[in-house]
Amino acid sequence: MELPFAESYKIKMVEMLHKSTRNERETWIKEAKYNLFNLKSDQVFIDLLTDSGTGAMSDKQWAALMTGDESYAGARSYFEMQEAIHRILGFDYFLPTHQGRAAENVLYSTILKEGDIVPGNSHFDTTKGHIEFRKAKAIDCTISEAGDTQLEIPFKGNMDLEKLETVFKKYPAQRIPVVVLTITNNTAGGQPVSMSNIRSVSSLCKKYGIRLQIDSARFAENAYFIKTREKGYADKSIKEIVREMFSYADIATMSSKKDAIVNMGGFVAFRNETLWQKCQMFCIMNEGFITYGGMSGRDMSALAQGLDEGTEFDYLETRINQVAYLATKLDEYGIPYQRPAGGHAVFVDAKKILTHVPKEEFQAQTLAVELYLEAGIRGVEIGAILADRDPITRENRYPVLELLRLAIPRRTYTNNHMDVIASALKNVYDRRENIRRGYVITKELPIMRHFTIELAPAE
Ligand code: F0G
Repeated sequence: MELPFAESYKIKMVEMLHKSTRNERETWIKEAKYNLFNLKSDQVFIDLLTDSGTGAMSDKQWAALMTGDESYAGARSYFEMQEAIHRILGFDYFLPTHQGRAAENVLYSTILKEGDIVPGNSHFDTTKGHIEFRKAKAIDCTISEAGDTQLEIPFKGNMDLEKLETVFKKYPAQRIPVVVLTITNNTAGGQPVSMSNIRSVSSLCKKYGIRLQIDSARFAENAYFIKTREKGYADKSIKEIVREMFSYADIATMSSKKDAIVNMGGFVAFRNETLWQKCQMFCIMNEGFITYGGMSGRDMSALAQGLDEGTEFDYLETRINQVAYLATKLDEYGIPYQRPAGGHAVFVDAKKILTHVPKEEFQAQTLAVELYLEAGIRGVEIGAILADRDPITRENRYPVLELLRLAIPRRTYTNNHMDVIASALKNVYDRRENIRRGYVITKELPIMRHFTIELAPAE
């Protein structure tokens, strides 16, 4: 008999969860102004708001915390991080930052100016925020296939090379300080980018003399998909694939709260010494001295250990299988989602489910609230609220996709939790015809509004 699949780790410490009644949740979500970011975590049973900083560290990472060196300058923990980044990613220079957006801040403060153009494959919201805040423009060059949730292709996160070259031809190279390639492509559904696409984007950038930045929050998951889906990589180790992926980049920013499995941390890594030196000023100003940049020594030690563990095949197989398990359950119930399932999350297609809710009333947000009311599960809207207003016209931008992201924290929940999530979603799906109204905005910030937005039921 073939043995079934099982997790590549066992549990050493547990944290209690809080169940609640529907009546309680109705009160809480109203108090939270229908913004799930405003809920207290105790009001949530299964928290799928994000896979960022919510993973469970290993015994070795906790041990690394104890050996962290808190010296202001030249801490041993810094050199542990340097060694891991050099060995696993292949970069000689880096600056630690407190998280991914801080790495973007340090880099873009140095290289971006008003009027610049930054092409990419679905820039993450903080990336786009940092670009637009500097009055530069983010141009999305994701392949159009990513907009069709039912289409199954292996690398749906890819950059469209024709779209990218059109941008290169339209603007002079001096106005394009960098191209951002996000692996995996979070906004398009945690979809991977193929090695061949990374390679082609890199050579196109070289041809036009433009730098390539890899936004590498979920780089290890991307490597897993390359190993399991791309011809020629089945026999390579994850670490070999990772080395090759980054060999095509000039710069890497990383939110280490994802694939390095720490609760806080990030960095920006460089191939070029001069750029590293230029960025040091903004690191010192905004983050801290260049050998800790916004991180405690202990956190740098845990991050270094996490980079190693996060790039092990057995761990990644467990991780990606769990996300796929949830997706298979949704298949059983006929619930549409961005296919195939992504690396870190299942992105449920709210537009296809809540067909009676007008897009002006935020379909994905409406579905997120319904799922919370159903079972205390907190997902996150990846739709018009996140897409924000056009910086010039101030009109709402309605993206092609209205998705409810169910992000799965690493090494945190069991497949029983996945069963609960799927069943709760099925209950909402079964009553979808009765959900006819969504929400209107009552209060919002001018940029990155989704975190603090306030909503009221549409009348
Ligand atoms: N890039 C990508 C692709 C991300 O997904 C994120 C964060 C960042 C950059 C910024 O990193 O949070 O450490 O400052 N994504 C989280 C999410 C917040 O829920 O997807 P950060």
